[in-house]
Amino acid sequence: MRLGTIYILGRLYVKNLTASTKEPSVPAAPTAFSPVNVSSVYVTDAAAAIVKSSTAEKLVAIGAACSHQLAQRGVHLALTYSSNLISINELVTELQSRYAENKLHISTHKVDVGSADQIENLFQEIDTQHGQRPDILISNAGYGKRITNIWDIPLEEFDYMLNVNLRASFVLVKGVVEHMMAQRWGRIVFMSSIAAYGGGINGCHYAASKGGLMGMMKNLSTRLAEYNISVNDVAPAMIGDTGMVPNASAIQDTVATIPLGRLGTPEETANVVMMLVTTGYMTGQSLVLSGGLK
Ligand SMILES: NC(=O)c1ccc[n+]([C@@H]2O[C@H](COP(=O)([O-])OP(=O)(O)OC[C@H]3O[C@@H](n4cnc5c(N)ncnc54)[C@H](OP(=O)(O)O)[C@@H]3O)[C@@H](O)[C@H]2O)c1
Repeated sequence: MRLGTIYILGRLYVKNLTASTKEPSVPAAPTAFSPVNVSSVYVTDAAAAIVKSSTAEKLVAIGAACSHQLAQRGVHLALTYSSNLISINELVTELQSRYAENKLHISTHKVDVGSADQIENLFQEIDTQHGQRPDILISNAGYGKRITNIWDIPLEEFDYMLNVNLRASFVLVKGVVEHMMAQRWGRIVFMSSIAAYGGGINGCHYAASKGGLMGMMKNLSTRLAEYNISVNDVAPAMIGDTGMVPNASAIQDTVATIPLGRLGTPEETANVVMMLVTTGYMTGQSLVLSGGLK
């Protein structure tokens, strides 16, 4: 039996897991993705910024890394971007070429996730282009303009950050949850931050948006468990090759305080996301990925 899954990135929509994942009463059945049976849609916010790394100009960021791992598993994708059309197109070309044998349906959608109307349009486009709502939602898009001190943070900046980093995930979940409940299978992953725990290098507005995300995740995980929908977040810190942290020299002083002595990578972040997507028994968890940083 096919299941439908969406992942929003970032969001992702994955589909076609085994029947056993659909019925929680079925004991001990494998819940891992099967490349053979996967037919899914993944919606992502983005994350395909082009950053000049030390080696070459390349597609980077967390959303792009999640897209690769999903595509590799045969998940159809609905990818979102806000401004970086060239990068998202390059990402899609790369995914279609590298995972050609999976015959993926990948759509792209320009969305300002700070706008509930634009998210509504996104879902209408997904309905048309994929014929269903996402099974897996990875809400990854995020805004992180760095203003450290509260006295420098304008009220408008606080409101904008809360809209993009917190309210958007609320609206996105509303757009996928009925579909997930109806099929009794769903995976929701929010991209939080170590800022939710009081750490990091940004201001209190960013911390509030990510802390709110963690609270919403924990509430949703208890409300949605009976429908076999897991809800978790990943809380990274200092992930390089991203728009937020291009490289170590951009935050030299901070890198010196990371116990592991280096930045994390988008691929390592995607690894944790994929673990959550493929491990249905885990729900209500916020996983810090920080190289030991508190
Ligand atoms: N890098 C880190 O160390 C770190 C640490 C903790 C948490 N995070 C979180 O990880 C997530 C991904 O960030 P990243 O590190 O990969 O940085 P990034 O390269 O800056 O990615 C952010 C993505 O969000 C998209 N975006 C921003 N505002 C948007 C809006 N209003 N509507 C739709 N999309 C929007 C951007 O799309 P466009 O490029 O098209 O504008 C971009 O692709 C974010 O939620 C961030 O808060 C990152």
